[in-house]
Amino acid sequence: MNDKLIVIVGSAGKLGRLVLASLLKQPNLKVRALVRDLTKPEVAVLVGPRVELKVFDIAKATAAERTAAVSGAFAVVSTVQGGPDIIIDGQLALLRAAKAAGARRFLPSDYSYDLFGLPEGVNMNTDWRRALATAAAPEASSTFEVVHLMQGIFTDKAVLGFLGVFDAEKGVARYWGDGKTPIDWTTWEDTARFIAAAATDERAVPERLQVAGDRMDLLTVAKTWEHKHGRKVSLERLGSLEDLEALTKRKLHEEPHNMYAWLPLMYARGVFGGQAVLGEKHNARYPGIVAETVAQAIDRGAL
Ligand SMILES: NC(=O)c1ccc[n+]([C@@H]2O[C@H](COP(=O)([O-])OP(=O)(O)OC[C@H]3O[C@@H](n4cnc5c(N)ncnc54)[C@H](OP(=O)(O)O)[C@@H]3O)[C@@H](O)[C@H]2O)c1
Repeated sequence: MNDKLIVIVGSAGKLGRLVLASLLKQPNLKVRALVRDLTKPEVAVLVGPRVELKVFDIAKATAAERTAAVSGAFAVVSTVQGGPDIIIDGQLALLRAAKAAGARRFLPSDYSYDLFGLPEGVNMNTDWRRALATAAAPEASSTFEVVHLMQGIFTDKAVLGFLGVFDAEKGVARYWGDGKTPIDWTTWEDTARFIAAAATDERAVPERLQVAGDRMDLLTVAKTWEHKHGRKVSLERLGSLEDLEALTKRKLHEEPHNMYAWLPLMYARGVFGGQAVLGEKHNARYPGIVAETVAQAIDRGAL
């Protein structure tokens, strides 16, 4: 039997590298790692006997380059990051090329809270991913699946730092609303494991594949952190959800070109608004993955 070929676009990124490592734990499998720049230091860790490196730019690729990028693929996994040219146009074109090449499925770069639960206009990044999902849906068939893997927020201090809600060094947790909104959590590594499992699955995979390591509100995360580290976490309420919405709009108006001024606030609206909590989880499909809880991630120093 031929080895299964999985193509990853965005392989040199943080999640892409973890997906590649997770895939290579499976036997009888090869990876085609698509990268933009072979000289990028992160590319060095991708090199291996079962890895084919290929230069590919999802925003600039010609039809022939897309066909070559996905030829022979069992599945195409995207872990790209970028604007609508990449998330909507680039991914859609590559997804269509994957379908034409006879691939079994395509996983777009979603990996978030329930992007279908969040209303339009709350988070621009989520809007683009939903727009891709809408454009991609007609491409799905009994032989070609589009799988939106959603796992909540990465249990990781850098991600929480970006959101501006937890600063482990200073021992401060910041929240909007009452801080009691349930939040789904999964580590980077477990997300990569679920992506690898879904990509290589011989069975039909649900279109909206929802998994998570834990569910916990931010105040409880802070308490869990305090308990594990034996250090007090001070709590800062930043305002109501209405205040958050108003601040997001003001920042977007004042600094439209500085995404760091408003993108974390958009994610905070998704996190604290409660509309993007995941529905029924599919963890049980992959019993080999025992996803880390928040407490375990804190123990390991991830948070
Ligand atoms: N739920 C959460 O808490 C959470 C947190 C963080 C990220 N995420 C999601 O996880 C996914 C991956 O994020 P990440 O942090 O791993 O991103 P990242 O490290 O920035 O990696 C993104 C990758 O996309 C590649 N890329 C960008 N433009 C491209 C193009 N035109 N053609 C080909 N490749 C291109 C980059 O290539 P180069 O290597 O050449 O730059 C990079 O390898 C995203 O969907 C992100 O939204 C979720």
